[in-house]
Amino acid sequence: KNMSFDNLRSPVVCVLGHVDTGKTKILDKLRRTHVQDGEAGGITQQIGATNVPIDAIKEAAKFVKGFAELAVQVPGLLLIDTPGHESFSNLRSRGSSVCDIAILVVDIMHGLEPQTLESIKLLKDKNTPFIVAVNKIDRIYDWQPNAKRDVRDDVKCQSKIAMNEFTKLTNDITVQFAEQGLNVALFYKNPDPTEYMSMVPTSAATGEGMGNLMALIVEYSQSMLAKRLMYSNELQATVLEVKAIPGLGTTIDVILVNGALRESDTLIVAGTEGPIVTQIRSLLTPQPMKELRVKNTYIEYKEIKGAVGVKIAAKDLEKTIAGLNIAVANQPDEVEFCRAEVSHE
Ligand code: GTP
Ligand code: NA
Ligand code: MG
Repeated sequence: KNMSFDNLRSPVVCVLGHVDTGKTKILDKLRRTHVQDGEAGGITQQIGATNVPIDAIKEAAKFVKGFAELAVQVPGLLLIDTPGHESFSNLRSRGSSVCDIAILVVDIMHGLEPQTLESIKLLKDKNTPFIVAVNKIDRIYDWQPNAKRDVRDDVKCQSKIAMNEFTKLTNDITVQFAEQGLNVALFYKNPDPTEYMSMVPTSAATGEGMGNLMALIVEYSQSMLAKRLMYSNELQATVLEVKAIPGLGTTIDVILVNGALRESDTLIVAGTEGPIVTQIRSLLTPQPMKELRVKNTYIEYKEIKGAVGVKIAAKDLEKTIAGLNIAVANQPDEVEFCRAEVSHE
């Protein structure tokens, strides 16, 4: 078969980590949104999804040395936010099971915490590669933030005191990963990306390291995951959340990884009382760089291709079970087959 890498889909990137390590804040910084400020108690309680066009990545990574010269092949990134609170392990599992690559966020001051370990287990189980964001570097004593440069230069320019603490904290975290059987290294010291996961120093408060983080995700995806990211017509789509939206009725938020969905397609989803067969009334996405889980003005599509986070409005979705795959029947006689397919999960 002729392998063509010129038709890559967006990688699905899941953001995982212990509660309050800064997962949502990192996405807010990138999107220039304020989702975290609006969360009850500052706690994420749902899975989110944000379609990030490649131009926004290029803008975020404009200070990253070498990135402008990279031939970018992915059309963007689909970023999945997950809750870190211990009670939402089902949502972490759901988020991590749809992703191609993950960002594991660690609070540099706290090191590995219980839900970091839980996330590591999920990633190991699925063999999912990840990049570690060691976040909140701005909290290091005497740290002088400079977000308008490559984070490598930002780190180099710190005082001796700040540098010593940074080195000690990142060494400690490296040891903690080693105790989990994982090799990690600061990305600019990574001797072999096939053996070592990269660590990026970040601050969602100042924006330091955000461009480097995005650049690493793009580079890793293209160099190591290109085969997996070749767009396929075969439908692969998972329900993230089931949600009633005023004016739309009950909708489902779906991660469409591969394949296309069309308005008026016959949709089959798993329901608490058996498979639900319905017709897609509308296919909606938020504006680029907006969070799917936040009510917004939507863009409506006649047809949409993966990878993308999409809201589907249709009749009879109330009893949909989240976390399972959906199917589409292209011919009336396929409905029975699809029913069986979704109920096998
Ligand atoms: P959950 O989704 O509830 O697990 O939390 P989270 O990982 O999404 O963390 P969140 O974005 O809610 O941030 C938690 C707190 O840390 C908030 O008060 C943020 O403002 C703060 N915070 C996040 N990142 C940084 C950072 O880089 N530096 C500093 N100083 N504070 C940060
Ligand atoms: Na939080
Ligand atoms: Mg959050």
